[in-house]
Amino acid sequence: MGGDQAKLAVHDPPYNLVAFQERGVSEYINWCRKWIQNSWHCLAENSALYIWIGADQNDNFQPLPDFMIMMRDFEFTPRSFITMRNQRGYGTQRNWMAVRQELLYYVKGSPHFEVQYTDIPKILRGYYKTVNGQKTENLERSKSDSIRAGNVWVDIQQVFYRMEENVSGCYAQKPLKSIERIIKASSLPRDLVLDFFAHSGTTLLASEIQKRRCFTIDIDPVYCEITIRRLELFRQKGKIGWQNGHPFERELPPNNELQLTPTNEPKKGNQPVQARLL
Ligand SMILES: C[S@@+](CC[C@H](N)C(=O)[O-])C[C@H]1O[C@@H](n2cnc3c(N)ncnc32)[C@H](O)[C@@H]1O
Repeated sequence: MGGDQAKLAVHDPPYNLVAFQERGVSEYINWCRKWIQNSWHCLAENSALYIWIGADQNDNFQPLPDFMIMMRDFEFTPRSFITMRNQRGYGTQRNWMAVRQELLYYVKGSPHFEVQYTDIPKILRGYYKTVNGQKTENLERSKSDSIRAGNVWVDIQQVFYRMEENVSGCYAQKPLKSIERIIKASSLPRDLVLDFFAHSGTTLLASEIQKRRCFTIDIDPVYCEITIRRLELFRQKGKIGWQNGHPFERELPPNNELQLTPTNEPKKGNQPVQARLL
């Protein structure tokens, strides 16, 4: 950290299945405990911590419940349990389609928080309240014409290959809009943002756009390279991803001529598969 402390950490760890295959949830949670401990040390006195975490409905909703229990051993205060709705889901005809992504919000101390608004217009009228002896209607009292972002996010498009922000080969990319929302709510310009699991570099790019500083890492050098190239692409061309193209176009043929091999194939369910560039 070079003596610096972060005001915000946004972590999106690999899920149990991908990271530990058959090794069980307790080992996964012990590993999480280590990077949560590291986060505590890297975060400033008043700061925010967000963690994207899976809840596998085919496996006791793990690792979410055990992760939440593990968090009780820390002095972080839980503040919100956010759900982001995916447009596409997975599952069989015999169960509810799985379309949710869980996001936990904790704080250390008492950090800055700025309410965020969606693009969804307010249409419901008629919540009357008397203000200074005058009967007022909710739209008159509003600070915004649009709806405030609550703890269920239904207004964010899941990344898919037609979107400019798409980074081919990144199986777990989060929408830029979701990370920008977190950054705008829980940090100020020039603040330092942390992300221990860079992957496609969404937190780094969102920090650049929102004029925050960011430290990010990934255990896989390929994802580190992708993260660097995504920032360079934005700085050079103002683009936020490669859409149908890919980050290694200088060295490798275009996507349609590339051989993509699935790796880390999950044992059950129809979950994302990592495509590794050859
Ligand atoms: C779910 S992805 C993060 C997605 C990211 N939020 C995005 O929008 O692109 C998890 C990433 O964590 C990385 N990873 C796995 N184990 C790690 C470790 N021990 N330390 C750092 N990174 C790790 C993986 O290589 C993978 O790129």
